[in-house]
Amino acid sequence: MKRIKDYLSGQPQQDVVVKGWVRTKRGNKNVAFIALNDGSTINNIQVVCDLQNFDEALMKQITTGACLCVSGDLVPSMGSGQAVEVQARSIEVYGTADPESYPLQKKGHSMEFLREIAHLRPRTNTFGAVLRIRHAMAFAIHKFFNDKGFYYLHTPLITASDAEGAGEMFQVTTLDLDNPPRTEDGKIDYSQDFFGRLTSLTVSGQLEGELGATALGSIYTFGPTFRAENSNTPRHLAEFWMVEPEMAFYDVNDLMDLEEEFIKYLVQYALDNCQDDLAFLNKMIDPELIERLKSVVSTEFVRLTYTEGIKILEASGQKFEFPVAWGVDLQSEHERYLVEKHFGKPVILTDYPKDIKAFYMKQNDDGKTVRGTDVLFPKIGEIIGGSEREASLEKLNRRIAELHMDTKNLWWYIDTRRFGTCPHSGFGLGFERLLLFVTGMSNIRDVIPFPRTPKTAEF
Ligand code: 4AD
Ligand code: MG
Repeated sequence: MKRIKDYLSGQPQQDVVVKGWVRTKRGNKNVAFIALNDGSTINNIQVVCDLQNFDEALMKQITTGACLCVSGDLVPSMGSGQAVEVQARSIEVYGTADPESYPLQKKGHSMEFLREIAHLRPRTNTFGAVLRIRHAMAFAIHKFFNDKGFYYLHTPLITASDAEGAGEMFQVTTLDLDNPPRTEDGKIDYSQDFFGRLTSLTVSGQLEGELGATALGSIYTFGPTFRAENSNTPRHLAEFWMVEPEMAFYDVNDLMDLEEEFIKYLVQYALDNCQDDLAFLNKMIDPELIERLKSVVSTEFVRLTYTEGIKILEASGQKFEFPVAWGVDLQSEHERYLVEKHFGKPVILTDYPKDIKAFYMKQNDDGKTVRGTDVLFPKIGEIIGGSEREASLEKLNRRIAELHMDTKNLWWYIDTRRFGTCPHSGFGLGFERLLLFVTGMSNIRDVIPFPRTPKTAEF
């Protein structure tokens, strides 16, 4: 079945059928012009109806939001907005949309309002553009890794281990919450739960990803990730998608090269394949969008240690909401100062204090820092978090003990360091953070179809 995108880029022809939803209808007593959109492109096709040939009752049903099947001829357009248009012969109304209650009447609704009607917002130009770009980026991610010989590994969503050790997990249980079984000392008896243990939704596929990399060489995961952190910010979701490649035999420099190559590839892919949607977003949402995308592709990212970064922030004379000092976890205001004000380009920050990073990162000889890398982006702050992994069984075990982590659920992970351990590295890219950058949207709730955030799980 041909879609509107195909007709708009094709030649005039007899006997076409176009189906879609009405965006607008205008005209006079002789002729009606209907702008029809089927989601295949941001561009509408113009349907021209000679009102002599159409019943008044039928025309009345054609209002914004109605779904139509139009038969007619594709002819060269007299108007200036398009090369071709449909001269309608007959119209079937699949579904009406009562103008009294259909909420998407006029243009220019606020993003907040559109979030309340997330079931309908994909029908707007903005969300259509964002969702098509989201698809293109997902496709490009698979293409990038497939072309490089990485294998797509499906890691579990339900897990007994806290990969980041931050305790931000959503529990998964089938126990009766009103009357859970108890052990003799009064604690909840998870041995009677569905999996016979306490389980949660995963915060990262990395630990299983490392199992894959130490067998298949280079793998990536790409799937939903869950964090029960109570962060109501424009950059946090409780359910988001993460891309996590993991590579045997990569050290931290190989890792940073891949991080930079990967993001540039994705941004270039959007510039090459999403031109209409980007042009729309550039016009309506962010006038510097395309320029910013082009600049990221063509500049070399700065690589800087955390310690050097802190020095720059301390010397900046800038008044930050959260004061800076060596050892603090960087806030997005600090990250954005470095990227937007100081360097004016993306920055990869490395060698973070071990106390603000996860247990699995490779420890440096100074005893204080680890080989973690965060990629910091304009408008976003942290877009990627990654590291070389600690390959030494002894050092890993020591760190796990220092952090009083429970090894009961990690024995299989530690086994990678017992049997054929190897240098290896990996990173996680927040898919929605990437989309914020590529679309120019300013709230992460607006780059995922149905956002999950604290107190919000409708749709
Ligand atoms: O820095 P994070 O927590 O790193 C990890 O989870 C590692 N296991 C990744 C790895 O090395 N395989 O998260 C990685 C990225 C962040 O840089 C950010 O882009 C995104 O995931 N992210 C979120 N995106 C949306 N909402 C949230 N609540 C996010 N938390 C992290
Ligand atoms: Mg991080």
